[in-house]
Amino acid sequence: MALDPNPDWWREAVVYQIYPRSFADSNGDGIGDLDGVSSRVPYLKALGIDAVWFSPFYPSALADGGYDVDDYRDIDPRIGTLEQFDQMVEALHAAGIRVMIDIVPNHSGSGHPWFKQALASPAGSAARDRYIFRDGLGQGQDQPPSDWRGIFGGSAWEPVGDGQFYLHLFDPAQPDWNWDNPEVREDFLKTLRFWSDRGVDGFRVDVADALAKDLSADPLPTAAELEALPPGAEHPLRDRGEVHAIYRQWREVFNTYDPPRTAVGEVWVEDRTRRARYATSAELGQAFNFDLLLAGFNADDFRTIIDSNLDLARQTGSSTTWVLSNHDVIRHASRYGLPPVASPGERRELGRLWLLARGAEPLEDTALGLARARAASLTILALPGSVYLYQGEELGLPEVADLPDAVRQDPAFRRSGGYEVGRDGARVPLPWTEDGPSFGFGTGAAHLPQPAWFAGFAVAAQQADPESTLNLYRTALAARRSLLANEDVQAGGFTWVEEQQPGVLHFARGPWHCLTNFSAPEAVSLPPGELIVTGASLLPGDLLPPAATAWLHVL
Ligand code: GLC
Ligand code: CA
Repeated sequence: MALDPNPDWWREAVVYQIYPRSFADSNGDGIGDLDGVSSRVPYLKALGIDAVWFSPFYPSALADGGYDVDDYRDIDPRIGTLEQFDQMVEALHAAGIRVMIDIVPNHSGSGHPWFKQALASPAGSAARDRYIFRDGLGQGQDQPPSDWRGIFGGSAWEPVGDGQFYLHLFDPAQPDWNWDNPEVREDFLKTLRFWSDRGVDGFRVDVADALAKDLSADPLPTAAELEALPPGAEHPLRDRGEVHAIYRQWREVFNTYDPPRTAVGEVWVEDRTRRARYATSAELGQAFNFDLLLAGFNADDFRTIIDSNLDLARQTGSSTTWVLSNHDVIRHASRYGLPPVASPGERRELGRLWLLARGAEPLEDTALGLARARAASLTILALPGSVYLYQGEELGLPEVADLPDAVRQDPAFRRSGGYEVGRDGARVPLPWTEDGPSFGFGTGAAHLPQPAWFAGFAVAAQQADPESTLNLYRTALAARRSLLANEDVQAGGFTWVEEQQPGVLHFARGPWHCLTNFSAPEAVSLPPGELIVTGASLLPGDLLPPAATAWLHVL
């Protein structure tokens, strides 16, 4: 199958996120690698995705799962070589699958040669100007320049021993770049060209809203002052106006390629209209819509989020993105099995964490979580826009909530003194077979231990079962592909079909109808038409039970 020649391929693409260290291990060292991915191209093709997005595979000390990049234009030797990368891209392209990679521009790893050079150079030097160094406060200059906290916990400033500190919004092993420095800007353009020249089709931009910073105030504002900033006020660290000039420059590079390279920004900005500014065709093209990660499994939240994001996409000329899981949050099969939470604050905690509260795991209703996950996945796969899937969700894989402390790798766990369990539970290597030392992930033990119950979720266990989650995704993705090629669907726009019962959502795109019973206590009757796919068994009389979705072809 050849690549879709349409330069707008990304608008309604299904993009599958691969976390390389945990996907497939070809040489038995416990770490997933590029040859492992190459060996699974037939699996990805059969799944029916349009593109893959790779989380970082760069040389890294792994202080933050590879989001601490020591060399932006190479592959970690534990993961592979540039030659293996080229082979993998060729195999994916030959299977009709486009390739997106993660680019991490807010910070490097502390092993980056420019950071080492900065440490070896004096205060005020050109080498230090590529990062964000400031003098310490107090007599001995031993106090940090401000009381800001890093996102993983602890101070956001690290002393270097000569009276200066450097800024790190994340781990101390992730020093923030100074984007006012022209060499930094130029180097990232070089990186974008390097990978685009190798055939990469697009980029996922890590922490896209934080690159531009203004630390000119003296003294710097306190953490409490930043907290108290009214909505819409300029923040010294996040979502500043100047950041858009950076992406306009990136877009010029993307547009020198045929087809133009595409990008999606990780923009955790609450105000949707501000988020949309990153997504125009003059900038990245898309910005992640994470709204469903913070929402409960209920019809009202889904409807509001769908309406506002489709509106926004219409206004910006972009297309929206739908996400239920990624490497930073609890897998949605588990999230939907947790008890409902009362306040938005609590919901935010549960949805966003790194954030599974300790001890929450016995509260999980696994059967309900899986039924809802299957229903919600079908709902988003029927919506206009692109869908980002996270490896393992096609298996209905739950979070591994009870990893022993000793094996946890996430800096959020360490730096919060164990208060936050961190994100490792979503990053446990995939089960491919029902037995073997790492369930077919590799020939040795995996870098994070897999629980015995992974056997039941293995690809091999699901392959032959027509009711399995894997086969549900395959059927849905194949149906989606042919429905999107249907002229009546394309011409049909998006319309809500009002239902009598609360707790039910029903929308149509021309003849393609999608009906989700979130919570109606009575099972719901389906409109007359041909049933395309449903993740659940219908009740007698063709009724759709709660926590289920059906797609129909209605004439
Ligand atoms: C993004 C990544 C996350 C990482 C952080 C710092 O949020 O998705 O995994 O820890 O950036 O790079
Ligand atoms: Ca390996």
